[in-house]
Amino acid sequence: MVCWSQSERSAIAELWDKIDVDEIGPQALARVLIVYPWTQRYFGNFGNLNSVAAILGNRKVAAHGKVVLNALNSAVQNLDSIKATYSKLSQLHCETLNVDPDNFRLLADCLTIVIATKFGAAFTPEIQATWQKFLAVVVAALSSRYF
Ligand code: HEM
Repeated sequence: MVCWSQSERSAIAELWDKIDVDEIGPQALARVLIVYPWTQRYFGNFGNLNSVAAILGNRKVAAHGKVVLNALNSAVQNLDSIKATYSKLSQLHCETLNVDPDNFRLLADCLTIVIATKFGAAFTPEIQATWQKFLAVVVAALSSRYF
């Protein structure tokens, strides 16, 4: 069971409130596909991912980035039961999609970089620390059905 202080709960809620899922989601997923090109193998049905420009202009990447970030909303709304919240999603990524769980952390890191780029100085070290704790719990929950 993860413990969240009141200030951590507020920091996550306030940051999440400022995040435009439709903007940040596509950027985060595109960044993963560009920085870690082996992740492209999971998206074979997404069409052209052959260059940075192709990835950034790929509508399926953008749409799926929104799906992923919208799924994060469930964790934000259920901070005390993230593992249970993602149980089915973990099973899907493990048994059906066969996604290597190491990739969850890569996506989490890209998401943090996109958020830091967007919010600049407002994304203080304290907020980052709380945000990364949150993402670590998300990554652990998504990995939970693999073991
Ligand atoms: C924070 C991490 C992640 C979250 C919250 C997440 C969430 C989701 C959600 C909600 C779906 C749709 C599930 C459905 O249709 O029922 C999905 C599908 C999928 N995810 Fe993830 N995901 C994450 C990370 C990853 C990573 C790192 C990869 C691979 C590098 C990946 C690969 C896929 C693939 C291939 C699909 C199916 C896409 C399609 O064909 O439409 N996911 N994910």
